[in-house]
Amino acid sequence: MSERTYVIDQMISAKSIAARVEALAAEITRAFKGTEKLVVVGLLRGSFVFIADLVRELDLPVEVDFLEASSYGDAMHSSREVRILKDLRSEIAGRDVLLVEDIVDTGFTLHHVKNLLQSREPRRLEVCALLDKPSRREVEIKATWTGFEIPDEFVVGYGIDFAQRDRNLPYIGKVRFV
Ligand code: IMP
Ligand code: MG
Repeated sequence: MSERTYVIDQMISAKSIAARVEALAAEITRAFKGTEKLVVVGLLRGSFVFIADLVRELDLPVEVDFLEASSYGDAMHSSREVRILKDLRSEIAGRDVLLVEDIVDTGFTLHHVKNLLQSREPRRLEVCALLDKPSRREVEIKATWTGFEIPDEFVVGYGIDFAQRDRNLPYIGKVRFV
């Protein structure tokens, strides 16, 4: 599959992403004002660029942690089974937590990870997703904050990959096979 030739058409520019990240961070800062310390949990690997930009815009005491879940059966098709490959280092019981995800697609990953974190009884748990493809949803779930709603296209860039490629693009583009 990844051997096929494709081009990437820009969908969201680096400038638009930066403006949206700033606005999201302002909303999150307001929502968690007064927190002792916010645990920002990035879902690896797709959220690593987004989380790096987001935390630098948060005007709050923060701690950063990561969790890795596998969801994709192959490069382009979601599997319903979600496994935890790397768990958090932090204890989150009684604490304020922000889960940061790259894309909510079918919703299986977010559903599973959110339930897992909720079972550890944080004081408050919210979700910030950079992208949302609502037309693809199979389990009913929504992030507290969403950067951009996008159509049913396969996208790459700004941390998001196609078979581990293109994570380093500064913008978000859609994959088009040629
Ligand atoms: P879900 O469990 O179907 O919601 O899948 C969520 C995960 O699938 C995301 O965290 C992404 O890693 C991956 N994913 C979904 N759509 C895309 C895409 O368009 N490009 C790259 N990865 C995607
Ligand atoms: Mg992913």
